Amino acid sequence: MEQLRIMSVFGTRPEAIKMAPLVKELAGRAEIASLCCVTAQHREMLDSVLEVFDLKPDWDLDIMTPQQTLSTITSKCLLGMDEAVDKLRPDMILVHGDTSTTFAGALSAFYHKVPVGHVEAGLRTYDKYSPYPEEMNRKLVTAIADLYFCPTENNRENLRREGVTEGVFVTGNTVIDALHTTVRPGCRFSTEILNALPYDSKKILLVTCHRRENYGQPMEDIMAALAHIARSHDGVELVYPVHLSPVVQACAKKHLGDIPNVHLIPPLAADEMHNLMARCFLVLTDSGGLQEEAPALGKPVLVLRRETERPEAVAAGTAKLAGVAYADIVSMAHQLITDPAAYAAMAHAVNPYGDGLACRRIADAILWHFGRGPRPGDFTA
Ligand code: UD1
Ligand code: UDP
Repeated sequence: MEQLRIMSVFGTRPEAIKMAPLVKELAGRAEIASLCCVTAQHREMLDSVLEVFDLKPDWDLDIMTPQQTLSTITSKCLLGMDEAVDKLRPDMILVHGDTSTTFAGALSAFYHKVPVGHVEAGLRTYDKYSPYPEEMNRKLVTAIADLYFCPTENNRENLRREGVTEGVFVTGNTVIDALHTTVRPGCRFSTEILNALPYDSKKILLVTCHRRENYGQPMEDIMAALAHIARSHDGVELVYPVHLSPVVQACAKKHLGDIPNVHLIPPLAADEMHNLMARCFLVLTDSGGLQEEAPALGKPVLVLRRETERPEAVAAGTAKLAGVAYADIVSMAHQLITDPAAYAAMAHAVNPYGDGLACRRIADAILWHFGRGPRPGDFTA
């Protein structure tokens, strides 16, 4: 029997980290030819992930430009995908999550009448503009997809409420599979500042922030709050690998550029980021991926957003929605830094997002779809 040609499409850092273990799992199946098409919506941040996971794309659209708009990303992906699909002739296209690459990848698959598998399906805030444009991207991909790989039962329930019940699997999130390959005790960092940090005597706060809906006043307030937290607590060192978006870079430098216990550093390679998270005290972030990784590593998370499509860690007590208001962020961080009981109540490892076997379930589900294997069982937290 001929091999199934399964093409994974991704373009940003988080998609790459979460698709890398799946591309490899598919490559390990005799029934499957695992193909990889990158849009390079992110260039440097994507290439770093490809290097960490030793992935060689079969096709590279190389679309990134500085200050790119949503329209340019989507249209360049869509145009570039035509040739990739024609040349690579996939039997199924896999997209991940909710970026512009995800939406354009799914739409292109539809235009070519190729079935779509949606990895990380069923996340919702039910707020069209938050996160923006991700909430709409994932809803549009739901309309196009044929197979839905939900990380959690809650995600499946979201799809069920929208009438989507066929081809739905609860697999766990592939980010946990990735985490299992990257975290190693005693890891040395390539950034010397990180090797020199006083992990035992000071509290390391790990920060990231990049969401488009936070651009402007919310991001100004977040960064000002972070500056206040660092200035008012001698015992903390704040480490912030700053996203390469020029908007984020400018805002971070303006508020945090000149504070002795704040370390603004370039984006970290995924393995180093995961190992830094494993050694830090607290995570403050608006990132989706970090909200999933930190609970698995037993690290409390303050979510720098008004809502989250990842309520599982909040329910488990290891994440709290801090919002985007200066006073709220300052007071919630202050409590965790100064009150050991409040900290202990949040700092316990939970795995609502996966058990490290998501990629195996997704590969099995794809084979089941094509009549080449049994239906896999669901992930239960
Ligand atoms: C994108 C996704 C967002 C995801 C985030 C992960 C969309 C609309 N947004 O947002 O869902 O959470 O990625 O980080 O799909 N840049 C570089 N080099 C890089 C990467 C980015 O220079 O390697 C700069 C470029 O100037 C680029 C800008 O960052 O124009 C913004 O990148 P873009 O992909 O448009 O948006 P993100 O905010 O990264
Ligand atoms: N990450 C990384 N280096 C960094 C910051 C984040 O490797 O400097 C990883 C992080 O561990 C997670 C993913 O990137 O796996 C999250 O990406 P991002 O926050 O850019 O996007 P989101 O998850 O919000 O879509």
